[in-house]
Amino acid sequence: MKSQFAVLRLQKSVRSHPNLAARYTAAATATAVLVLLFLLLAPSNPSISTHHSLFLSVSSNETAARHLQALTRRPHVAGSEANAAVASYLIDILSSASIPARIVPYDVLLSYPVHRSLSLSPNLSAPAVAFDLVQEIYPDDPFADVAAEVLPSFHGYARSGTAAGHVVYANYGRVEDFAMLKASGVEVAGNVVLARYGIVYRGDIVRNAQIAGAVAAILYTDAKDNGGRSGECFPDARWMPPSGVQVGSVYRGVGDPTTPGWASVGECERVSVDEVVASGVMPAIPSLPVSSRDGDAILRTIGGQVAPEDWQGGEGAPVYRLGPGPGFLNLTYLGNETITTIQNLIAVIEGDEEPDRYVLVGNHYDAWTFGAVDPNSGTAAFLEVAERLAKLQKGGWRPRRTIILCSWDAEEYHLIGSAEWVEDNREMLASRAVAYLNMDYAVSGRGFHASSTPQLDTLLMEAAKMVQDPDNSSQSLYEQWINTDSPLIRRLGGSGSDYAAFVQHVGVPSVDMRFSRDYPVYHSMYDDFVWMQKFGDPLFHRHVAGASILGLVALKLADEEFLPFDYKSYADELQQLTEVFKSKMRGKPVNFAPLLKSIKKFSKAASKVNSQRKELEGKSFLSKWKKNPNEVRELNDRLMMTERAFIDREGLSERPWFKHLIYGPSKHNAYMSGAFPSIDDAIQRVTISNASEAWGLVQHEIWRVARVITQASHVLGGRLT
Ligand SMILES: *[C@@H]1O[C@H](CO)[C@@H](O)[C@H](O)[C@H]1NC(C)=O
Ligand SMILES: *[C@@H]1O[C@H](CO)[C@@H](O)[C@H](O)[C@H]1NC(C)=O
Ligand SMILES: *[C@@H]1O[C@H](CO)[C@@H](O)[C@H](O)[C@H]1NC(C)=O
Ligand SMILES: *[C@@H]1O[C@H](CO)[C@@H](O)[C@H](O)[C@H]1NC(C)=O
Ligand SMILES: *[C@@H]1O[C@H](CO)[C@@H](O)[C@H](O)[C@H]1NC(C)=O
Ligand SMILES: *[C@@H]1O[C@H](CO)[C@@H](O)[C@H](O)[C@H]1NC(C)=O
Repeated sequence: MKSQFAVLRLQKSVRSHPNLAARYTAAATATAVLVLLFLLLAPSNPSISTHHSLFLSVSSNETAARHLQALTRRPHVAGSEANAAVASYLIDILSSASIPARIVPYDVLLSYPVHRSLSLSPNLSAPAVAFDLVQEIYPDDPFADVAAEVLPSFHGYARSGTAAGHVVYANYGRVEDFAMLKASGVEVAGNVVLARYGIVYRGDIVRNAQIAGAVAAILYTDAKDNGGRSGECFPDARWMPPSGVQVGSVYRGVGDPTTPGWASVGECERVSVDEVVASGVMPAIPSLPVSSRDGDAILRTIGGQVAPEDWQGGEGAPVYRLGPGPGFLNLTYLGNETITTIQNLIAVIEGDEEPDRYVLVGNHYDAWTFGAVDPNSGTAAFLEVAERLAKLQKGGWRPRRTIILCSWDAEEYHLIGSAEWVEDNREMLASRAVAYLNMDYAVSGRGFHASSTPQLDTLLMEAAKMVQDPDNSSQSLYEQWINTDSPLIRRLGGSGSDYAAFVQHVGVPSVDMRFSRDYPVYHSMYDDFVWMQKFGDPLFHRHVAGASILGLVALKLADEEFLPFDYKSYADELQQLTEVFKSKMRGKPVNFAPLLKSIKKFSKAASKVNSQRKELEGKSFLSKWKKNPNEVRELNDRLMMTERAFIDREGLSERPWFKHLIYGPSKHNAYMSGAFPSIDDAIQRVTISNASEAWGLVQHEIWRVARVITQASHVLGGRLT
């Protein structure tokens, strides 16, 4: 029955391209016979798989390399003139691929550094020495002429102000690290925290320092997390040079801070920065990122107790101590927070049969610096997808469903462009979006990684079997992947990239993919084309494979008659998650039975919908059991809408923007994908208080999750109670 649509599509394309009509007429009779033969013999639509194979075969590493070079000529932070030039480049490439893009602007709060100073005295009686806070140009740097355009290293949305105090070393700045300092009797209040990057989101490090009473936070890259102290670094090795600094946002929300939950369009309602700070999502203390060299200099002035073994540096490092002092830091940071216009680009390839069903493919294009890895390797792959789709269109292909290509702005400030667009189009997306496929950066090295909502697991694995491993032509991407990644597929609870609003705010099934290994030049001035060519992807084959897997998954979602969703794997995943929580809570006064019961129902509904699909697939338009297109559509709608049922209007308590009750960021590390985030939040509260009301709250959250899963099985089953 899939084939019936192929015939319809052929007729439509002849009608809509009269200049092609003659050619088609000549071949029509012969083709019709062939097509009929296929209809009778082939189990699936031959024209779809032909187009999909064509998509894989027209790849080019040369175009991906050329695009990346053009995109990374200058640093292009959100809101800058250089970033507007990148947007124009994208519009040009898309329009020459006959996929015209619209600019969708939003007026959002961004922040830029105006003044920074940081000085260190080994003790209060010694004079202070100022750090220069400059990332140095490397030997033969081809981008030296535009190095001055790199923004001074800073934290996006950092608090402006001056703060001074003795230094305390706080390891990775996690909740448990501050608990350890407290237990050791180290006074954090009134002092300056020095913490290393590497495990938790930088906004959470600053938040934890603030809660502990610190007056400022300095974040540095430890040599231990950057190739050790051998001295090998870029441009000779992949490691960050000693003056390199990881910049980035310290905002803990998603989207424009002044419009939480609605779109930043024109003269809209806004909350003040003071209110945002008071709510805890923007820091109330100043912070600054520094290099490994400056971090090392500061560490050498910290005395007091010796830090625990796992807080120490690598080989050759001095002994790390906890402080406070005698080293004394004096920091001034002045930023300007300004409402700035950003530009998302939206390009639409309209679906032929179901134009009101959307498959969205997204990547951001703004970068902290040159952005060769983050994000423009993804942008190059994204353009490569667009150009290959243009070739399919020339060959007469049109997708069954609409494909929407989205280029996001201001992701680096914390997912601003995508979140504003999702908030702006929330109800349209909630009723029409089939899936969102994200590719932030595509390549930082060898090794494929994927995260998804679980109904897409099978589709991802099937697609990976059709793509060649870019590092070994005698095997598929799938074969490489199963040998390198465990678990094979991760989940999308973290708020690390633009899928966050789709999954966690609206409940759109989503995927995020990349090739990566260690990425030491992350968010530094050294993330440039030279690094990519030398270390990230010397032959640009990984870019090509990234485009192949991204495009192929999009094509399958857009073209297959039945949405390739499998909710059995979702049910299995929910079951496993529950077992984990149950064993964590063994002996506690909470009952997981309501959750287990709802999952059982969900699992039954998942099996049932799978067999209904098989039954419908078996019906052919030639047989006496005719397939009704409305029945196909109804089944697909159930598959599409089931994820939406995991959305709860009230959202997580204290974090109401996050509405998905299965996946959301861990409360103390936005990088980490949390499962059952509302239950997890309640458990964290109870571990502090152990009051019986607190246990009641955990039970309440268990009920709440059970209820959304029950709603999901109603949707999947398509039946009213
Ligand atoms: C904010 O600071 C940046 C960098 O110093 C500067 O280019 C920009 O003009 C400033 N904007 C405003 C509104 O002051
Ligand atoms: C302070 O630091 C200076 C320079 O390192 C050193 O010479 C001096 O002895 C220190 N003073 C105290 C009181 O520790
Ligand atoms: C910190 O430095 C500023 C100059 O940047 C100076 O005015 C201030 O007195 C210093 N604070 C302390 C406590 O040393
Ligand atoms: C390439 O893949 C083949 C087939 O999986 C495997 O036998 C071979 O060892 C791989 N080569 C390398 C260099 O990894
Ligand atoms: C593209 O791949 C070919 C074959 O591996 C290689 O010779 C060429 O250098 C690559 N092009 C780029 C720009 O890396
Ligand atoms: C928590 O409270 C329960 C009784 O409500 C008690 O049995 C248990 O020992 C307490 N646990 C801790 C860690 O205080």
